[in-house]
Amino acid sequence: MSIGGSGMPGVGRREVLGAAGAAVCGVALAGCGGNAKPNVAGIKGKVIAKTADVPVGGGALIAKWKIVITQPTAGVYKAFSAACPHKGCSVSKPKDGKMTCPCHGSQFSAETGQCLKGPADAPLTAYQVKVEGDGLILV
Ligand code: FES
Repeated sequence: MSIGGSGMPGVGRREVLGAAGAAVCGVALAGCGGNAKPNVAGIKGKVIAKTADVPVGGGALIAKWKIVITQPTAGVYKAFSAACPHKGCSVSKPKDGKMTCPCHGSQFSAETGQCLKGPADAPLTAYQVKVEGDGLILV
């Protein structure tokens, strides 16, 4: 029998410390992955939404391409993959500055895409978007 400093047979101190932080973003969980990111190559340069569809302080989920577009402040648009980095479910459109994954509850900043709450361990993939007329174009 081995005792690795945790007081539990066969379990080392690092394993115990790692388990304690599992609810925080940035801590990888065994078996996570399966991120089904959208293939955006075919839509770059095309209008993917109208500016009128993306309210200030909110956003829109473009389910067809699994992309979320947000407008955290007037005139500033951000685009992210809606594919949750945990297991690939589509996150919600933003509410109260956050996108939430309905599968396991991860939350992401509507301004930066950063993971605010796990079990996801990475941010949403960000894309560049520009305004042309009343359209939003992925660049
Ligand atoms: S798929 Fe698990 S939190 Fe999003």
